[in-house]
Amino acid sequence: MSERYDIVLYGASGFTGVYVLETLAKSAHQDVKFAVAGRSEQKLKKVLKEVSESTGHDLTDTPIIIADSSNENSLAEMAKKAKVIVNVVGPVSFAYVCIRMINLYVILVSTLW
Ligand SMILES: NC(=O)c1ccc[n+]([C@@H]2O[C@H](COP(=O)([O-])OP(=O)(O)OC[C@H]3O[C@@H](n4cnc5c(N)ncnc54)[C@H](OP(=O)(O)O)[C@@H]3O)[C@@H](O)[C@H]2O)c1
Repeated sequence: MSERYDIVLYGASGFTGVYVLETLAKSAHQDVKFAVAGRSEQKLKKVLKEVSESTGHDLTDTPIIIADSSNENSLAEMAKKAKVIVNVVGPVSFAYVCIRMINLYVILVSTLW
């Protein structure tokens, strides 16, 4: 397996996701490798451009992972690429996929929908 990203921000295109992405852009050490994930590549690219402009940190080359919470395989593939997933997507069915398919521990901070 190729090397995992230190952090995958799942749901970066949402209201909460933008805040977390801004925080990552401003405060993550340059050695921290992170990717954004969600169901829409177009929306994720738009957010990367907007947050680049708002923070002054160029995020436009940030890797993008496509994962739809209604597709368990896409969630499992995303999980395999991450050391840590910050989930700001509801519902949190991805957590059960992680636990069931790849024995990953999950800490939930988002609302259970
Ligand atoms: N808003 C707050 O103040 C706040 C505070 C604390 C915690 N939270 C929690 O944070 C989570 C997100 O809330 P939010 O207000 O940020 O919501 P939001 O703005 O509606 O964003 C939802 C995010 O989830 C994604 N999403 C929705 N359905 C998806 C699916 N089937 N597959 C993949 N991605 C999907 C959306 O992607 P698209 O852009 O493609 O639609 C978007 O990135 C919730 O669990 C909420 O309880 C929110």
